[in-house]
Amino acid sequence: MSKKHSMATLQTKKVYIETYGCQMNFADSEVITSILNGVGCERCESVEEADYVLINTCAIRDNAEQRIHHRLRDLRAVQQRRRLYVGVLGCMAERLKQRLMVEEDNVSFVVGPDGYRRLPEIMTRVAEGAKVAETELSESETYADIVPVRLDGNGISAYISIMRGCQNYCAYCVVPYTRGRERSRDAESIVREARGLYEAGYKEVTLLGQNVNSYRWNGVSFAQLMAMVAEVSPQLRVRFATSHPKDLSDELLATMAAYPNICKCIHLPLQSGSNRMLKLMNRRYTAEWYMDRIAAVRRFMPNCSITTDVIAGFCGEEEIDHQATLDMFRKVGYDYAYMFKFSMRPDTYAAKHLNDDVPDEVKGRRLEEIIKLQGEIALENNRREVGKIYEVLVEGTSHRSKEQLFGRNSQNKVIVFDRNDATPGTYVFVEVIDCTAATLIGRLSSQ
Ligand code: SAH
Ligand code: SF4
Ligand code: F3S
Repeated sequence: MSKKHSMATLQTKKVYIETYGCQMNFADSEVITSILNGVGCERCESVEEADYVLINTCAIRDNAEQRIHHRLRDLRAVQQRRRLYVGVLGCMAERLKQRLMVEEDNVSFVVGPDGYRRLPEIMTRVAEGAKVAETELSESETYADIVPVRLDGNGISAYISIMRGCQNYCAYCVVPYTRGRERSRDAESIVREARGLYEAGYKEVTLLGQNVNSYRWNGVSFAQLMAMVAEVSPQLRVRFATSHPKDLSDELLATMAAYPNICKCIHLPLQSGSNRMLKLMNRRYTAEWYMDRIAAVRRFMPNCSITTDVIAGFCGEEEIDHQATLDMFRKVGYDYAYMFKFSMRPDTYAAKHLNDDVPDEVKGRRLEEIIKLQGEIALENNRREVGKIYEVLVEGTSHRSKEQLFGRNSQNKVIVFDRNDATPGTYVFVEVIDCTAATLIGRLSSQ
């Protein structure tokens, strides 16, 4: 099919994109919007206006997928009234492939994370009555040349995808199957994108990958890439997610320490504090190694915040393993944690070789214990912030009061303060005067 043909058919068609899952999916939706704008589609703000609805999905846990099934059923009601093409993109599309269109017969196309360049052609064919599944994974696609169209942003902070895929094969995780082999994006295109954002008024970029420590492009390491992006401007903050504890290097920590505009915040997913569980999970580090990396973070950056992910109730987890996780939480004193109940994912190592043998109520109880402990730790950490003065990037008006603004410090902590004459998109100094477990409360300070 010629490109001309597809462009003619999609011209002025309205597309509504709904995004679920991690930051990488949000970054992908911005790439998708750019591709579709290029053929004359218009993005719209609601299903009601749309000719096409694209759902960019997540497959990380069963409940993420159940949400999508429910959403597809909601859309059926609209489709009974009028013509509306529904496409499923992203990780769940990749996992289920054409099976998804058998289970959900109102879906006309299924496109995996490496197939987005073909969307214009696929959507044209769909309008001609076809059903299409494009779920080929690539070893080289990075969408490096596509300038993302920023969606729903604040014009202050943006994501930049620096690599795709993952081949760590943690036993519980579906990502290597849904996103394919790891590949790094051209460093120059990343720096160009960061510079473009800075020139457009952005003040913060977050570099994204499933395991940014293994970024490598033409000899450029992740630490070197961070330095290159930090050099764009001292006024541009640089963050990143996610680093895998097994290869968090001193080189990266030294680079973080050397640049004031590289944010002092590390997300270092623990998953479990028990060596037996870590081994079963194929995480390839021990609790001792993890603590050594925490000590290194503190050595290079005494003021660095540390956050984590944890899974409660992985296969074979006993009470003693759970206690080891709680112990690690106490030892590290995380500023924030994403906490999950284990959910068995088809096709993973765990699904093939291990038993999902922790009863759901035990998983739930352990998760509650972790959440409760983490709440106490976060409050304790925040209390220690009272009296300190931080440079804060103002992001917007507080949800609670129009008279207040909110922003974040380098450590990624949210600070709320009385507006006075401060404006979003600028840096101000704020003194912390109070806190909750989730938020710091401050007042503007002259320094
Ligand atoms: N690449 C990142 C994690 C991406 S997935 C890393 O390795 O750290 C985000 C988080 O979801 C994981 O850190 C893990 O805590 C959680 N997760 C992944 N698979 C899961 C599963 N099957 N059940 C429950 N939580 C899971
Ligand atoms: Fe999943 Fe592990 Fe890869 Fe993270 S590093 S995406 S948890 S397989
Ligand atoms: Fe979900 Fe895929 Fe991200 S499974 S967490 S959207 S990489």
